[in-house]
Amino acid sequence: MCKSTSVDLVTKTDQKVEQLIISSVKEKFPTHGFIGEESVADGQPCILSENPTWIIDPVDGTTNFVHGYPFVAVCIGFAVKKTLEFGVVYSCIEDKMYTARRGKGAFCNGEPLQVSQQQEINQSLIATEFGSNRDPDVVDKIFSNMRKILCLPVHGMRGAGSAALNMCLVASGSVEAYYEIGIHCWDVAAAAVIVEEAGGVLLDLEGGPMDLMSRRIVAANNQPIAERIIKEVGGVSCCPG
Ligand code: IPD
Repeated sequence: MCKSTSVDLVTKTDQKVEQLIISSVKEKFPTHGFIGEESVADGQPCILSENPTWIIDPVDGTTNFVHGYPFVAVCIGFAVKKTLEFGVVYSCIEDKMYTARRGKGAFCNGEPLQVSQQQEINQSLIATEFGSNRDPDVVDKIFSNMRKILCLPVHGMRGAGSAALNMCLVASGSVEAYYEIGIHCWDVAAAAVIVEEAGGVLLDLEGGPMDLMSRRIVAANNQPIAERIIKEVGGVSCCPG
């Protein structure tokens, strides 16, 4: 099944997992708010209020899931007064449970995570995605941004097909940075806490701190690497996927 475009997929699994998470959390916390990818697709508002809010992507990497490409994650972030307090990303096929709580560190299956110590962009591995907008002008922009990063040069570019898992790879030190234009708050909320608690930084691709609702992100091991990416691909307005 498709949502915004023919390549923006949703499955019955996405819908069922989201219903399951929301109904079980609601039983314990009936006054809390929810932003869920599939609820928003069904017409619920996508507004982050001051209320305690659970931000849910039931299947991040739906295209991977449909094709049997083994990088798929369930993501649950929790914000109070618009500040993210904890995040859980479960990489289902790899059976890796990434967790973080503000001020308490980040973990994968209970083992502490730390970002890469690399300072040099030309010795870095960078993750990004193609998104789901196939408008040729948008695709040209994505390739032009990738070309700029690749030719810095960097060691390489990768994409797991899941924004959250790309960010967990930043938190684990396997890639130095991940950037994307067109993501939604549910793709990145849970993993944002994990990146920060692993010692990484989150910025808006146009500069300044990450804005969860802006649909742009750079998550990096440190500020200089994040700023180098912004210098190449930032300053352009959003081309949402
Ligand atoms: C998508 C994935 C993909 C990214 C898209 C997201 P979904 O999430 O994270 O890697 O490029 O921007 O929308 O739709 O599979 O939950």
